[in-house]
This record gives sequence, structure tokens and C-alpha cells, in this order.
Amino acid sequence: MNETIPSDTITTDTITLAHVSDVHLSPLTGLALRHLNVKRGLGYINWRRQRQRVHKRSALDAIVADLKSHQPDHVAVTGDLINLGLPAEYEAATQWLHDLGTPQGVTVVPGNHDIYTTLGSDPGVARWADYMHADAWGAQYSAPGTLQFPFVRRVGPVALIGVNSAVETPPFIAAGEVGDPQLAKLDTLLQRLEADGMIRVVLIHHPPLPGQAPPRRALRDAGPLSRVLAQRGAELVLHGHNHRDSHMDFARLPEVGGGSVPVIGVASGSALHAHGNEPLGRYNLLRIGRSASGVHIECVTRGIEAGGHSVVQIERKLLT
Ligand SMILES: [Fe+2]
Ligand SMILES: [Fe+2]
Repeated sequence: MNETIPSDTITTDTITLAHVSDVHLSPLTGLALRHLNVKRGLGYINWRRQRQRVHKRSALDAIVADLKSHQPDHVAVTGDLINLGLPAEYEAATQWLHDLGTPQGVTVVPGNHDIYTTLGSDPGVARWADYMHADAWGAQYSAPGTLQFPFVRRVGPVALIGVNSAVETPPFIAAGEVGDPQLAKLDTLLQRLEADGMIRVVLIHHPPLPGQAPPRRALRDAGPLSRVLAQRGAELVLHGHNHRDSHMDFARLPEVGGGSVPVIGVASGSALHAHGNEPLGRYNLLRIGRSASGVHIECVTRGIEAGGHSVVQIERKLLT
């Protein structure tokens, strides 16, 4: 598909949001005997046998260089920055985030590999707190403080809503859960943000709808979350986790105005080699704006060409 937004339908109130996910930073270093438990041991074996051949820093660096060359207004990172929840990985990801952009220009939500398994008093994802909290404007909608979800940030006409779906799970389970307290807050703030005329963009690691992932990798409360989305709506939902591009239009209830919520999954940003049906590294550039006729969202997918590190346009389409 090669549609583009007609230039006369875009107002100056248009932003470009880059979406990158599942960068699974490599190389994996800093594993010590004291870190090992059953889950981390099995995860390490999986990394050595499969994932370390797929996720390469050189691929991610090419993706980030291309992303920066397009000068997005903001970057959304939807989780799985690391692999085994090791202190050295959190530190490496902190440095990667600093290189990617400022906490004002980059928003992060955690993935299941970021909230992996406990490690004593290690602060874990709290190291990235500057990238995961409400800004001054969003504080009117969401709780202030560290690791409070959902949080709200503003980028021009867009309200970014950061939802945490990552919970600790047993070995072989990569499921997620939003939980009732977050769902209740999300329900309320989606209503308020719509009433205030904001373009609502929800960021979450796990695919939010029932059936988008097999049970051991799925969001446990995708049913309740999809009911909130059906009732309250959102202009866009961005997620990762499946390491594949996806686009679903989720119907909003007719009694609250109908329409649909585009749900966009992005592939891993660091894959240099094919793995199953996962493509090479990709990211999305979302051009989001409003005109007299409504909200317009254009999604450009860019990714690594086979056999090298060149990043090219894969697809361009209108979501609305
Ligand atoms: Fe992932
Ligand atoms: Fe994941």
C-alpha cells in the first residue's frame, strides 16, 4: 500500500512519533553465578542457542541512526530493552537510552524481559524512571512519582499513555497483565483526555487484544483491556512483544460513537538474521495530526534490507 496523507488535510499541529521495540540489547554480559535461578538459567540457554544469533547491536545502531536522521518529535520504546534482567544489562540499556534521546524526548514502557525475575535489592527498571513517568502536563491525569502506571505525557496534540503489562512470570511463560487498578485508571484518563480533545496514543508491551498471542505469551487480561478500549476508545495503540509487524482495527462500541482503534505492533529493532517468521530489524514513523475532518495517522515502516545494514522504507499506509 502506498497511500499518503493529502498535504492539505494536515494542519501544522502534526507530530512525528518514532516507535521502536524489543531491542534485546546485545552483547549479553555480566551474568554471574549469584544471578542464576531456574528462569534466568533457562533464559541464558535460550539466548546462547537462538537469540544471540538474531539480535545484534550493529543492526540496532543502523535502525537508530536512520530513526534519528528523520528527526522525530518523540520516540516511543515499548519494552524488552534487555534479556535476562541483569544489573549490567539495565546499565547498558540506561546508556543506550541516553544515546537515543533525552527523557523529555523518549518514552519507555517495560517488557517482560525488563521485569524478568527478582534480583535482591537491585533497582531493575527503576533505572529508567526518567523515561517512564508523567510530565508536568500529564500529572493532571496520572499519578506522579516513580513507576506509576499508567502515566501521561504530551507531545503537541498527542497524549502518550504509558501502560505497564510486564509482570514476573515462571520459566517458559512470557505472559503479561495490566491489572485492575491500572485498568480503572486507564478507563478514567481515556475519558478525560478525549473530553479535553487530545489525540490518545496508548503504549504497551504486550499485544492488547484477545488472540494476538498464544496463551503462554499473551496478555492475561486482554479481555478487560479490550473492553476499556471498546468503551472509551483511543486514536492509536502501539505495542511490541511479537517481534512482527501487525495492524488490527479494533471496533469501538456504536453507542459511544463507533469507529475503530488502530492497534499497531512493530517488529524487533535489532534483528540482523531471520528467526522463524520474524523480519529483520524494523521501526515505525507515525505522522499524527488533526484537521477539520478528524485525526490523521500515517505509518511508515522502515527496516534493514537483507544482506546488509541499509535501512529502507518497507511500507507506507494510512491508519485512519
Ligand atoms: Fe521481545
Ligand atoms: Fe516481550
